[in-house]
Amino acid sequence: KDDSLYKAMQQRGRSFIGTAVTLRNESRETEIINQEFNSMTPENAMKWESTEPSRGNFTFEDADRHVAFARKNKLQIHCHTLVWHSQLPLWVSNGNFTNATLIQVMEDHIKALATRWKGACTRWDVVNEALNENGTYRESVWLNTIGEAYIPIAFRLAKKYDNKAKLFYNDYNLEFNAEKTAGAARIVKLIQSYGVKIDGVGYQGHVTSEDTPTAPAPAPEQKVLEAALRATADLGVDVAYTEIDVRLNTPVTAASEAAQVATWQRMAASCLAVKKCIGMTVWGISDKYSWIPGVFAGEGSALLWDEKYEKKPSYAGFLKGITGK
Ligand code: G3I
Repeated sequence: KDDSLYKAMQQRGRSFIGTAVTLRNESRETEIINQEFNSMTPENAMKWESTEPSRGNFTFEDADRHVAFARKNKLQIHCHTLVWHSQLPLWVSNGNFTNATLIQVMEDHIKALATRWKGACTRWDVVNEALNENGTYRESVWLNTIGEAYIPIAFRLAKKYDNKAKLFYNDYNLEFNAEKTAGAARIVKLIQSYGVKIDGVGYQGHVTSEDTPTAPAPAPEQKVLEAALRATADLGVDVAYTEIDVRLNTPVTAASEAAQVATWQRMAASCLAVKKCIGMTVWGISDKYSWIPGVFAGEGSALLWDEKYEKKPSYAGFLKGITGK
């Protein structure tokens, strides 16, 4: 069981190891997914710009292909994402809607997606990235038009149209930035105070293991990671790492790679140290397709397989963090 990430995870009594998926012509990806993963997150296919590019015009072909792929390969699906400020078409963000109309727009969208994949989505990222780094709410059409209530409203609607999926709040830098983690805990309590169900918090886990021009913080220490997970898990929800990658300055050196391996191990070990951490998703398979170099120039090598689909040393570090051996 120790030669497969998800089997090792299940051996430890947890639910899943997943990867982000963009379907493309790479047969190695399907092989690796079948060997290593039991969950997938559609990387872009379910986002608003992909699924409702103009009002009431729902385009599900690409997302449906991803759902069919998951079903064929017996993967859980972490559905991503219903309400987000990014990859949101201009008809929503610049729409000048009233509070009531924007809630209707939200309901129409959530209804269409949640109903379509009811039973297929193991988890839904209901609201994504609602927080600033200091823990306050991020400005967006949602916040500006509806106020903070847009968050519990989104969860109430998600539950209305899919009462099976586990409903998650998902954000980045929660795993080490205490102010932002406190913001996530506040969101959990806000939703609960409305009498609405939230099942989990997703810690994206886009981290670095050395200083880079865009490093949000030094490589997170184990005790910081664990405390961050507990900050929301202690409120009675599940937690998960939902988008892990560990980026480096490129080209990579032996020393920077060693630090990276240790970071992968700590990320996994921190999840295993927290009972309510149900699983971990890595944000892609091969460095060839990682989002990092395109967004952070001069950084990369962030995933577990290299550009030729060879396992990197970080794979062994991550597995070691899962097995604890
Ligand atoms: O589909 C178009 C294509 O037609 C066009 O030719 C090409 C030219 O740039 O762009 C393509 O769209 C790109 C899309 O990925 C699909 O490849 C967008 O430009 C690009 O911005 C988009 O990036 C995605 C990014 O989210 C957008 O915010 C990344 O693939 C995806 O990995 C990334 O994932 C996010 C999570 O959803 C939320 N958390 C952070 C994470 C990393 O940014």
